[in-house]
Amino acid sequence: MPKAVDPADRAQRLRRELTEHAYRYHNLAAPTISDAEYDALFGELQELERQHPELATPDSPTQRVGGFVSEKFEKSRHPAPILSLSNAFSAADVRAWFERIRKLDERVAGADFVVEPKIDGLTVVLHYAAGLFTRGATRGDGEVGEVITPNLRTIRTLPLRIPVETKGRRAKAGPAPASLVVRGEAVIFTEDFARLNAGLAAQGKRTYANPRNTASGSLRQLDSSLTAAIPISLLCYQIVAADGAGPATQWETLDYLRALGFPVAEAARRLPDLDSAIAYCEDWAARRDELPYETDGMVIKLNDLGLAASLGFVGKDPRGAVAFKFPAREVTTILSDIGVNVGRTGVLTPYAILEPVEVGGVTVRQATLHNFDYIAEKDIRLGDRVLLKRAGDVIPYVIGPVVEARTGKEKAYRLPKTCPDCGEPVERAEAEVAFYCVNSACPAQLTRTVEHFAAVLDIEGFGEKVAEQVVADGLVKDVADIFRLTKDRLLGLPGFADKKAEKLLAAIQAVKSRPLGQLVSALGIRGVGEVAARDLAEHFGSLDALGQADAEALQAVDGVGPSVSQAVVDWFAGQANRAVLKKLKQAGVWPTAAPRPAAAAGGPFAGQTVVITGTLPGLSRDAAKAYIEARGGKVTDSVSKKTSYLVLGEAPGSKLAKAQSLGVAILDEAGLLRLGGA
Ligand code: IVH
Repeated sequence: MPKAVDPADRAQRLRRELTEHAYRYHNLAAPTISDAEYDALFGELQELERQHPELATPDSPTQRVGGFVSEKFEKSRHPAPILSLSNAFSAADVRAWFERIRKLDERVAGADFVVEPKIDGLTVVLHYAAGLFTRGATRGDGEVGEVITPNLRTIRTLPLRIPVETKGRRAKAGPAPASLVVRGEAVIFTEDFARLNAGLAAQGKRTYANPRNTASGSLRQLDSSLTAAIPISLLCYQIVAADGAGPATQWETLDYLRALGFPVAEAARRLPDLDSAIAYCEDWAARRDELPYETDGMVIKLNDLGLAASLGFVGKDPRGAVAFKFPAREVTTILSDIGVNVGRTGVLTPYAILEPVEVGGVTVRQATLHNFDYIAEKDIRLGDRVLLKRAGDVIPYVIGPVVEARTGKEKAYRLPKTCPDCGEPVERAEAEVAFYCVNSACPAQLTRTVEHFAAVLDIEGFGEKVAEQVVADGLVKDVADIFRLTKDRLLGLPGFADKKAEKLLAAIQAVKSRPLGQLVSALGIRGVGEVAARDLAEHFGSLDALGQADAEALQAVDGVGPSVSQAVVDWFAGQANRAVLKKLKQAGVWPTAAPRPAAAAGGPFAGQTVVITGTLPGLSRDAAKAYIEARGGKVTDSVSKKTSYLVLGEAPGSKLAKAQSLGVAILDEAGLLRLGGA
């Protein structure tokens, strides 16, 4: 029989391990075990301490709120402890929590709940005095945080001023008190994160590993101009302290915060009983990728804040709320090999080839490794057991090796000296982390260029496989050759029959009527994404004019700086590119753009970007657009952080939710007309 483990030894060991893992997670951003494994160890220690209360020590990780206070920032004592949450991993766990608190207070039996997403970000504590944002801090150790006010000010959706006098629906909750402290979560939305990394990759710069660490790292910068470059968002959910009485329920708290201008998670709901609260959590568990940010569960809170407070805490966890954790999306598996991709600009990117493993219902065989420095920094070796995470709809990534699992047979990775596709030597650009294949005739680069061109121009049926086929067969030697494809030639490719070839040719023809901006973006000029391409197209009106513009003329376009303007000039100067342009013109792929109507100088909407959703009662879409443009505003289709107002009509679409989550101001038609001075 195995020797029984002494509970005191086990507890001590667990405490040591948990402390080490918490430090690696919070301070080094380099965890070596998954969140689920951490939770399991933590749960084991909690259980041991419950069975043997004499084993609990004041420094046990169960007794403190995780996180450390670093020396580099000024400290701020929170007006009330910034608490954590206990975890539930199943509906049964949630019911057990409910039973425990019902025994403490019978009123729980008839309680209603608020269920909110558990946002996987960085907790922030925001102080307002006389309506002004005066100080913001991290959670730190739950008692004392680090003051990061200038960094927090860079968050576009963080209200710098809140109304102290309010009217309308705010009257119900009262105006903001002279002093108010709000708790929220700073996060990078999945979409913003993907855009940020795509932009960095296009410039050959280092990409970020994951949204959470990027947000946390950038908010803890000493130079807030670096923070400002990162698209951080905010979602608030708690009033930590206020002068006078605050809202009595969690639901009113969310309403009140929203009314004061704080962004609040759209998916929060009030549910009348525990069954419907659990059902709501399970519903989101099945479609968590639809939330615009990463979550690791839902939080079920007693709606009655007085009742919740009267129940007290267990250690650092309030009894009145519980986190219903989603199944973990972190697993470990073996890294069998490291492959190398060649991008459109010749950048080489390593990726992990893995022993297949299931993460959150998906079988994963490959994962990103970001860049070659990442492999060295994390000391990732071939044959290592690695920790893997699949987050949101972001591609799975390797967090790092599980060093304890090494057998000694793992091998160091050797940097590639030649391009895996064309075999030519590779070069490392100075001041960049990327390695490049500089062979302009490299077939892998051409394939990616063709694939990118077809994807941006939305050529139906022209995906990765077709791009590979037409390049490998020599039918396409540059993107303009796409317009020289014929049915006969396509029929020579495996898998192409009459119908498929005809459909593809029709899809290619349709490209001729695409807007100029889309074509400019498809050309794949370094640093010129969708937005810059559209702005350049609208400014210059044609490829002829754009091709003749010098760096200075290009920089007259908003958002086009020295490096992008140089990339444009260089692109149009390239011999091969000029030949492509000539062929495109001959093929009739030569759209022009009407210059954007000059915004009315001044005007009530000058400098503002407006989005319209739903049907307005009195104005047609076109009339509303004209009204706004005539008063200096710009009307766009999709809501982003740059949107100044969303005009809301009947039967709005998903734009409303997006606007609310971004904290964009919302107007109805009457409000629009009033603002416009009608
Ligand atoms: S409520 C007494 N609500 O999750 C209030 N926490 O594991 C306790 N978190 O560090 C927290 N989203 O910062 C609450 N909607 C939400 C949350 C949330 C994310 C974080 C919180 C805490 C951690 C607890």
